Amino acid sequence: MTTLSRRTMLGAVAVAASLGLAGAAQAQAYPNKPITMFVAFAAGGPTDVIARIVSEHMSKTLGQQIVIENVAGAGGTTTTARVAAAAPDGYTLIMGQMGTHAAAPALYPNLKYNPITDFTPIGIAGITPIVIVTKKDFPANNLREFVAYLKANPDKVNQAHAGVGSTAFTTCVLLKAQIGVPKLNAVAYRGTGPALNDLVGGQVDFMCDQVTNLTPQILAGNIKAMGIATPARLPVLPNVPTTAEGGLPEYQISGWNGIFGPKGLPKDIQDKLVDALNKALEDPTTNKRLADLGTVIPNAQERAPAGMAAVLARDLAVLDKPLRDSGAVGQ
Ligand code: MLT
Repeated sequence: MTTLSRRTMLGAVAVAASLGLAGAAQAQAYPNKPITMFVAFAAGGPTDVIARIVSEHMSKTLGQQIVIENVAGAGGTTTTARVAAAAPDGYTLIMGQMGTHAAAPALYPNLKYNPITDFTPIGIAGITPIVIVTKKDFPANNLREFVAYLKANPDKVNQAHAGVGSTAFTTCVLLKAQIGVPKLNAVAYRGTGPALNDLVGGQVDFMCDQVTNLTPQILAGNIKAMGIATPARLPVLPNVPTTAEGGLPEYQISGWNGIFGPKGLPKDIQDKLVDALNKALEDPTTNKRLADLGTVIPNAQERAPAGMAAVLARDLAVLDKPLRDSGAVGQ
């Protein structure tokens, strides 16, 4: 070996060593640039609202901005597939939810992700009781009248939702099956934010939606709440009766919103994100902002990655048959 080639080799070793150190430093320094958190629905809906509230505090803990990017379509499945295929470096996350992760597999024959194996769970950010809401001048003033009206006038009623497989779509499939009115005119929106605008405007008649989105409009009297699908009334909506009070005790359901990264996220990065989510939900201001909208804050066990994985497995099992039986198919 010549002196020159030995020098070259030593140089190469030094460069490789410094690159290794830089790589290690880079990993240690996570996050060292802004993080994108995708929301697979339009702005102003529950997924978006919860993502924005928790990410604001998580950004402080992480020392880097979490940027929310709304990319809607196909009940949220297009963007969810995009995140599943992203690099597992901690810079691409999604605020997933019951629709995209637990309902879509039963409805999309060509779904491009497996909700369990293609993601790294970070944790549940909010549990969202479902409320059945109508436009202000809908000809029913309580759940019994609402059910009777739907049974008598199935052709006259327009239901809004956020795309096949969304939480709004899924929870209304369950409602319609229970009351025996399986087919109604349905109008798909890019999220229940825009759907709610049209409900307030009277362009559509009703929807089943997550409370987070609805609370301000219910309290303002801009829409009517027929019933909340929880065992007890919510403190923030004391005048909204439960579905059991309205004669539908079997209709009990909540959605949930949780953060996922692509599969293969390094453990140290997952741990940092879990810690930031925990700090956000334990922060009194963040906690109150969510709770004031009716969002139920998951306890530490429920929101942990294993807790979210258990909720996901439960909902995949519970939703599979009724959704397949509905005959709906997502494209
Ligand atoms: C859903 O129905 O899945 C959500 O409400 C969609 C959204 O967040 O807009």
